[in-house]
Amino acid sequence: MDEDFLRAIDNLDELIPEQKQLLDDEILICECFCVNVRDIRDSFKESKKVDLSILSERLCMGKGCGSCIKSSSEWLDKIF
Ligand code: FES
Repeated sequence: MDEDFLRAIDNLDELIPEQKQLLDDEILICECFCVNVRDIRDSFKESKKVDLSILSERLCMGKGCGSCIKSSSEWLDKIF
């Protein structure tokens, strides 16, 4: 087989953009107020941009222990 062809196959994963892994709807994000991923998606289904201050207003997220907001870097980009 052609060595260039084999090398191209070896590097194929570098050419394919990484698929973003979205969270399942049922995953609980805020344990204090029982807010899951679906609740968050429903709140921003038009804009598809999650706003933490609106989540706090509408769903009380962050108004308990606050750990859901503190850990937002772990889940924020996996909603949409
Ligand atoms: S987990 Fe959201 S306020 Fe505690």
